[in-house]
Amino acid sequence: MKKTYLVTGGAGFIGSNFIHYMLKKYDDISIVNLDKLTYAGNLENLKEVEDDPRYSFVQADIRDKEAVTKVFKENQIDYVVNFAAESHVDRSISNPEIFVETNVLGTVNLLNCAKNAWLIGDDQYREGVKYLQVSTDEVYGALGKEGFFMETTPLCPHSPYSSSKASADLFVKAYFDTYHFPMNITRCSNNYGPYQFPEKLIPLIMNNTMGHKELPVYGDGMQVRDWLYVEDHCKAIDMVIRGGVLGEVYNIGGHNERPNIFIVKTIIGYIKEHVDDTVSEDLIRHVTDRKGHDRRYGIDPTKIKNALGWYPETTFEVGIKKTLQWYLDHEDWMKNVTSGDYQNYYKRMYANR
Ligand code: NAD
Ligand code: TYD
Repeated sequence: MKKTYLVTGGAGFIGSNFIHYMLKKYDDISIVNLDKLTYAGNLENLKEVEDDPRYSFVQADIRDKEAVTKVFKENQIDYVVNFAAESHVDRSISNPEIFVETNVLGTVNLLNCAKNAWLIGDDQYREGVKYLQVSTDEVYGALGKEGFFMETTPLCPHSPYSSSKASADLFVKAYFDTYHFPMNITRCSNNYGPYQFPEKLIPLIMNNTMGHKELPVYGDGMQVRDWLYVEDHCKAIDMVIRGGVLGEVYNIGGHNERPNIFIVKTIIGYIKEHVDDTVSEDLIRHVTDRKGHDRRYGIDPTKIKNALGWYPETTFEVGIKKTLQWYLDHEDWMKNVTSGDYQNYYKRMYANR
């Protein structure tokens, strides 16, 4: 039977990749993309699907009860996939309030609207509906040299961003525990791939290297992130929507841990080899570390592998080349997103480091 998805934050990095992934994979679905279009939302990411009859767009805030309720009234929504968020740790350090507003209050509003639309009796919901909260490994805090995050690892967020995501997760869990609301939570490690806004490490370093600008590496650059190609994240979300046991949390990650400095040097090496042999590691500048910087993230994906058969299809070596080549092939995209406000943001963010 045809399913209708409400995807929030679909004009951002992972949300737009998810919409492309789903529309390619399934003929018999429709997707309503609800996005406020903040600085991180970009309809250019969805140009290829904007005329697809299975796709529609609503510009609205996830906190807007009236707008979200209207979407539920006008569409028979089967699944909500909530990507909408303020997502950048550095911005959360300088301006935490908006993270509470969007990530916490926005999530609670979505939960309420979905609950109202789906409820058919006392704690009874329409058959087959589900709300999926797209969360992050950052809610678990930081690891030392050993060990991995499991679904049972206690939440211990450090940044305002991860604290807001953890709070949202707790509300989603509370809706399950209190109202039997049908939900899953996924917690994924760092994503990379096309359409990522260049405030995040990989596209930022890519853009700066191409422009022969300094490459800001926080502290010693030995912080470790567990990188996953975005399409593998999309595949996991699809599998959790279809097969996840209600009320469960699933961690998503592919054991691709790399120190930041390795990522930066990989990008320089790729550009040197393929585009411009005058760039070098001399561009690297170690700058003041991020406040409260988490040292290491690493996901244990055993649960989603065993329960749903998920595995990552793209190795880091293949994924990073695909990603860097995508940015090279989409110079106009990068030019557009780095014009205007971005320049002010960049100056503000890096002036005092
Ligand atoms: P992003 O910043 O690229 O995109 C966020 C999108 O949400 C944008 O399109 C923006 O316009 C929209 N948005 C923001 N506030 C909104 C609001 N109030 N109402 C409606 N729309 C709003 O983020 P991303 O990197 O694509 O991350 C998507 C989700 O995945 C987030 O919830 C994030 O916490 C989670 N996540 C991200 C990563 C990662 O590596 N990027 C890893 C794990 C989990
Ligand atoms: P980021 O892409 O912001 O993702 P997150 O903070 O959610 O993991 O940062 C990835 C890592 O790269 C993180 O350890 C911070 C570091 N970093 C830099 O060293 N320099 C930069 O300019 C940026 C944006 C990040």
